[in-house]
Amino acid sequence: MNTDFVKTEAVQTLLDRATGKDAEGGNPRLKAITRDLLEAVMETIVKHDISESEFWQAVNFLQQSAGEFGLIVPGTGIEHFLDLYMDAKDAEAGLTGGTPRTIEGPLYVAGAPLVEGEADLSVDPDDTDTLYMSGKVVGPDGEPVKDAIVHVWHANSKGWYSHFDPTGEQTPFNNRRRIKLGPDGQYSFRSKMPNGYSVPPEGATDKLMQALGRHGNRPAHVHFFIEAPGYRTLTTQINFGDDPFAADDFAFGTREGLLPVPNRQGDSAYIGFDFQLQRAKAEAEQAFSSRQRLEA
Ligand code: DHB
Ligand code: FE
Repeated sequence: MNTDFVKTEAVQTLLDRATGKDAEGGNPRLKAITRDLLEAVMETIVKHDISESEFWQAVNFLQQSAGEFGLIVPGTGIEHFLDLYMDAKDAEAGLTGGTPRTIEGPLYVAGAPLVEGEADLSVDPDDTDTLYMSGKVVGPDGEPVKDAIVHVWHANSKGWYSHFDPTGEQTPFNNRRRIKLGPDGQYSFRSKMPNGYSVPPEGATDKLMQALGRHGNRPAHVHFFIEAPGYRTLTTQINFGDDPFAADDFAFGTREGLLPVPNRQGDSAYIGFDFQLQRAKAEAEQAFSSRQRLEA
């Protein structure tokens, strides 16, 4: 059958009623969005002639994977799509230049220790190399950005993040800091070298990736939020350019300009990386998105 079936009066009336078209209360924007989403689901059902059994299998999957939605969103590329969309809107508004944004991912935790000067991110023992990363935060004209706060977080050498480590081996803010910069915009930290990350084995994301013939691996990477008065908050990450998954990131978080290759010498690795922020034209641009984040 053709998807025109969804345009029949019976189905359109059902969509109107289901989304409260003539109901007085409710949120008009939510009504419109819900209607379009439901209609897209219906069209997909018809287009692929989805059976009742297949449909309930999908509902069951969604029910069981609720705890991993934060992982499924990047894994299915929607989080990267949001970046592409924000980039395109920025370009339309003439807001170009600076360090590219890339996905936040699901593993940020608010409330990490705020430190100044040369920072040491790792408190827990980890038998691996030491990463030294340094550089500066500048604005559009290369001017040093004053009083920035660099939020940095990454996995340990087993690919696990503190707070989300099933082995229970890490203390709460291992490999997580907020670094307060001075007037020169210079930052530098040392840390235990992260390794690539994999989605939890046999979890919902893993099952979905397998069903799609994909994998759930990310290259080793380090996440950043950079906020500073007068500048747009940047959400980004660097992925190690020499990681086997650098060109095959399941979460689509790797981007050109964000793939430095660590300079490895003995048991140390060095990355020099400057961040360039855009100026905020309005107060709201300085803010973080209101995504709900774990707070500790
Ligand atoms: C996922 C994990 C990450 O560490 C990340 O940066 C992005 C996504 C995930 O599990 O989906
Ligand atoms: Fe990550």
